[in-house]
Amino acid sequence: MKFLLDSCGGMELIRLDKFLCDANVGTRSEVKELLKRGRVTVDGSVVQKADFKVAEGKNVVCLDKKPLTFAQKVYYLLNKPAGVVSASRDRREKTALDLLKGAPGRDLFLVGRLDKDTEGLLLVTNDGDLAHRLLSPGRHVDKTYRVLAQKEVTQECLKRLEAGVDIGDEKPTRPAVAKKLADTPNGLLLTIQEGRFHQVKRMLLAVGNEVVGLTRISMGPVVLEDSLPIGQWRPLTEKEKEDLGVLH
Ligand code: URA
Repeated sequence: MKFLLDSCGGMELIRLDKFLCDANVGTRSEVKELLKRGRVTVDGSVVQKADFKVAEGKNVVCLDKKPLTFAQKVYYLLNKPAGVVSASRDRREKTALDLLKGAPGRDLFLVGRLDKDTEGLLLVTNDGDLAHRLLSPGRHVDKTYRVLAQKEVTQECLKRLEAGVDIGDEKPTRPAVAKKLADTPNGLLLTIQEGRFHQVKRMLLAVGNEVVGLTRISMGPVVLEDSLPIGQWRPLTEKEKEDLGVLH
């Protein structure tokens, strides 16, 4: 779902209701109510239309006469190490978000989860719309994993993984793409379009094998490069943001 619909002389235009939600003044329905009650002004005039467009650096939006600031959207790629939980905060354990300390941006969160012992690509952002688009089951976003299995990966095993396997859920897994890795007989690259609990591990178990090492190497158009050390993060490039549809 995209809200940035338009641009004006290179400036991004954003719906007023979206702007107010991003500025953390309330939920969607609270924002609707604030607008209805005439508590929001744009450049000094009361605006009650949720789809009114405003632009950073051009308009001054106030709530109860107090100016609000535009929330800057940020996008990061983290190469998650094993041993770190995919959570924002945890009393006892180190979290993936702890590794982003010092990264500019408010209200960061992880786009999805990896198991504690899984390494690799995790996207981190404060853009809820992007997270929704990437995680929504109906969107079938490709996620590719480098899998090290306990036993040799046979052609039969690849075929079964590709066709979809029964992992004990209501439905078998959706068709996948499975390719052997050149450098080890026990390795494969597996691309799936779902994000079920422990999915890759359960898929390997379903074909009589077992995961002993798991690294996510891509999500949608974003690919983890070998040069980003484990535990490090970087901002997404302009090209990656464009491919994700968050640049206009
Ligand atoms: N599948 C798994 O089994 N674990 C992960 O962390 C991700 C996908």
